Amino acid sequence: MKEFKGRVAVITGAASGFGREFARTAAHLGMRLVLADVEPGALETVAQELRGQGTDVVAECVDVSVDADMARLAHRSREAFGGTQLLFNNAGVACGGYAWEHSEADWRWVLGVNLWGVVHGIRHFVPMMLEQRDTCHIVNTASAAGLVSTPSMAAYNVSKHGVVTLSETLYQDLHAVGADIGITVLCPAFVDTGIAHSARNRPQALRNTTHATPSMRAMQQATEHATAAGRLSAADIARLTFDAIRAQVFYLIPHTNLLPAVEARLQDILAIRSPGPFPSPQGHAPAHQP
Ligand SMILES: NC(=O)c1ccc[n+]([C@@H]2O[C@H](COP(=O)([O-])OP(=O)(O)OC[C@H]3O[C@@H](n4cnc5c(N)ncnc54)[C@H](O)[C@@H]3O)[C@@H](O)[C@H]2O)c1
Repeated sequence: MKEFKGRVAVITGAASGFGREFARTAAHLGMRLVLADVEPGALETVAQELRGQGTDVVAECVDVSVDADMARLAHRSREAFGGTQLLFNNAGVACGGYAWEHSEADWRWVLGVNLWGVVHGIRHFVPMMLEQRDTCHIVNTASAAGLVSTPSMAAYNVSKHGVVTLSETLYQDLHAVGADIGITVLCPAFVDTGIAHSARNRPQALRNTTHATPSMRAMQQATEHATAAGRLSAADIARLTFDAIRAQVFYLIPHTNLLPAVEARLQDILAIRSPGPFPSPQGHAPAHQP
């Protein structure tokens, strides 16, 4: 996809971090926007900013983990602008702690937003794109955590590995039917956004009723430090993502220093060897030792 002016972008998680920067970049390129987020106040602030610059913006309060919300989002895009050419399945949340210490609510929350959100996006937007018969593109935000298995992040890792394989399979399926829909799976490492504070939007029904364990607290602290120290900004990620859309790049790995860890994992698999030890996030406090 090389032409953006006048075309329609739908962005989930648009109220903060990467999603807000995708929205700013898309607006700058003359796109019409459907912005979705679960945090209404922050969403309206972004919508107002971009409307003030003359961009056509529809803002929808959406929980991406809810199928009916994503169906409504697709309907709104069609109703307001006649369709969607560029979809960002981007909304995401994170929590940490040893695998056996994640509560059922942790799993439901993280998989619900990070994996089911993308599933719903694909189910509701790909048929619309196929019907439109014009050039389209989908960006699924996974993570470095979709390519390697960092300790103390089981639910997040599972969700992001899921998004990577879902994107790979979608790519193959679209190729099989000859669709003109490009796919990019975005796999960044730590970037300074609101992700370390994603519990701000955690639904009441999925909140933990017990205190955080030492491994959960250590991971929370490590994530706060690592994101604050990120060398690329959310605006850098948006710029690189639009470059990848233009160039039809499938795997977008903005932090190339991650590649040796990806290679080490694949080498372990090829050698039928147990996983090697993983360094703590950017040298910060390792997770609590048992
Ligand atoms: N920041 C990083 O270090 C990093 C690294 C790799 C991947 N990611 C991924 O990038 C994506 C964007 O996150 P970010 O870093 O910009 O964080 P962020 O917290 O700044 O933005 C995420 C947005 O998603 C929204 N959201 C949360 N739950 C939602 C739901 N149920 N429905 C709709 N919207 C919801 C939040 O309100 C927020 O506006 C996520 O998928 C995240 O996993 C982030």
